[in-house]
Amino acid sequence: MRDYFIQGSYLAASVLFILGLRGLTRPDKARRGMQLAAAGMLFAIVGTLVSHQIVDYRWIAAGLVLGVVIGYPMGMWVPMTAMPQRIALSLTFSALAAALVGIAEYNTRLTNGEGIPAAIMAAIGIEVLLGMITVGGTLIAAGKLQEVITSRPLTYRGQNLVNALVFVAMLVLFGFLVSHPERPALFYALIALAFGFGILLVLPIGGADMPVVVALLNSYSGLASCATGFAIGNVILIISGSLDGSSGFILSVLMSKAMNRSFTNVLFGAFGSQTSIGAKSAEGLSVRSTGVEDAAVQLAYAQLVIIIPGYGMAVAQAQHQVRELAELIEGRGGEVKFAVHPVAGRMPGHMNVLLAEANVPYDKLFDMDEINGDFDRADVALVIGANDVVNPAARNDKTSPIYGMPILNADHAKSVIVLKRSMAAGFAGIENELFYNPKTSMLFGDAKKSLTGLVSEVKNV
Ligand code: TAP
Repeated sequence: MRDYFIQGSYLAASVLFILGLRGLTRPDKARRGMQLAAAGMLFAIVGTLVSHQIVDYRWIAAGLVLGVVIGYPMGMWVPMTAMPQRIALSLTFSALAAALVGIAEYNTRLTNGEGIPAAIMAAIGIEVLLGMITVGGTLIAAGKLQEVITSRPLTYRGQNLVNALVFVAMLVLFGFLVSHPERPALFYALIALAFGFGILLVLPIGGADMPVVVALLNSYSGLASCATGFAIGNVILIISGSLDGSSGFILSVLMSKAMNRSFTNVLFGAFGSQTSIGAKSAEGLSVRSTGVEDAAVQLAYAQLVIIIPGYGMAVAQAQHQVRELAELIEGRGGEVKFAVHPVAGRMPGHMNVLLAEANVPYDKLFDMDEINGDFDRADVALVIGANDVVNPAARNDKTSPIYGMPILNADHAKSVIVLKRSMAAGFAGIENELFYNPKTSMLFGDAKKSLTGLVSEVKNV
């Protein structure tokens, strides 16, 4: 009976995980998707808690309290702009959990003297190997994203050789342990090497590429959980680990594609280094700045306004003011569309989440391919804290580090208004010739403040 209950819970959890992932493919269904996945997790936990393998609930209760004490503040108070590093840290914990289960399973089998068959040792080995690579890698990724450690790629001579040697050493240890499992010293050496390898792997990658790295490490941690499932004979870990591993991998591929970069380029290139200054300098070019009143008049009389949100909108938390401004323009008979670049902001879906939070209707949000043709007939392209995703250098400057990245055609609009605080570069660290285009006006200041001003001025026009 108990077994039926457990398997039933796991089945319900698996279905809910899959429905949850499906929900996440559309911004208007994403919230529901998260709720379904959370319900799935509840089924998985309840199913696991009634297992006869649990001999003592005290540690579980302690873990529950500790998890809530750490997790609740992380969920409630970490700002949206710090979400990538928060996700990286959550991944550290989940990978550590997978590795610890592997270590516990190894020790239990060793002390019970029941022997470790080669297949089980291989599963445990993969679990701790991938788990600890993820722990090391995500800690460095979180540090780089938070800029606790430099976001510049850290490189040194012979780096690839050192990494290759550590990698080979791990493989040799792994192979040896599969055939001779009862060597705890070697098992712990494998764990230490994997942790070090995770660190070495991420150190030479620039901060701008960390979200892709985190998605890739997410797939390693998923595979580690999957291996845990095989090692301890747990179905839900195999299913959820496979879902986690494959979705993380697909996400990292899609993100690389949106930046027009290959995986090898992300892992071994130096994009995102603060030293990658743009090939074109702005010397001799002039910038036209504008005031809130003039920009408001332009917007109030426009027939089509395309709004391009970027990382700066997230920093300023200006999404509610953006929605208000869009409603005002529409109230005056203008049309407003939102152009969302796949890598605008600092994480996948960053802009969609913020705009959905501000109740911008989903049918006003357009992907790059859908909207790029509309810029030619737009009266105003309103760029709000975006930079790299509208940089024409990606199209026409072969020496630019972002050359080839598909961009939003803001420069095709009849006029462009850019809201940002200064002439500072975006994440790729390069100049943007759009800001020097004669049809561009720069409205300098914090995006929220500028938008609040625009809202009250448009009302008066
Ligand atoms: P960015 O190119 O990073 O530019 C953001 C701009 O926002 C900055 O130039 C900054 O200029 C401005 N800003 C910051 N705070 C502001 C505020 N309070 N008010 C107004 N403006 C503010 O952003 P983007 O165009 O969204 O491009 C995203 C970048 O991140 C791309 O290079 C992309 O490849 C990279 N990236 C994204 C992802 C994902 S998944 N989204 C993953 C990896 C890498 P000021 O300082 O002058 O205000």
